[in-house]
Amino acid sequence: MPSEKDPLEQEQQFKNFSLFITLVKTMLFILCAAFLYIGFGDKFDFNFHQQAIKQSTYANSQSSFDDEDWDKVENGIHVASGLVYVDNFDIIRANCTACHSGKLVAQNRATREGWQQMIRWMQETQGLWDLGKNEPIILDYLAKYYAPKEVGRRANLDMAEVEWYILEME
Ligand code: HEC
Repeated sequence: MPSEKDPLEQEQQFKNFSLFITLVKTMLFILCAAFLYIGFGDKFDFNFHQQAIKQSTYANSQSSFDDEDWDKVENGIHVASGLVYVDNFDIIRANCTACHSGKLVAQNRATREGWQQMIRWMQETQGLWDLGKNEPIILDYLAKYYAPKEVGRRANLDMAEVEWYILEME
């Protein structure tokens, strides 16, 4: 005569079993994901932020840059952004070329106070973040390389130095 099983115990066994199955399924899933990542991970670009910076930096330029050009500096100018290249340029690049082209920065000139006002304006209306301890570094940079150009008249010509010549007319 077959032994009668306690239905409660049977139910408990069933629960344990389905828990075990769930566990196995989860592990299989993780394993598959890991294999996929190892096999194809490099095909995806997980560097979304960097990508966004690149796109905005190149927004105003016709040519497309590859990674080598990304860091190219010619005559002291960082080619991709059009900005003066300095030692801590990464701070400038990270904070000032994320939303718009660096060329928008380069074509403006102001005093340190003027630049600070522009930064405040972007912070109040355009979602620019708090620059923290980088603000003085950025302001030093802007005030040094993008100071107002000399306006006003050029110096008078030194008449004695000028070589005069006769206009020959046919
Ligand atoms: C969060 C986004 C954002 C960041 C980061 C940002 N800006 Fe701007 N900035 C803007 C927007 C938006 C405008 C307006 C663009 C327009 O008018 O087309 C602007 C405009 C400007 C202008 C033109 C102002 C004018 O009067 O025409 C200058 C110069 C400028 N930014 C400099 C900077 C500098 C320097 C930094 C780094 C400290 C910076 N931006 C970082 C969003 C940003």
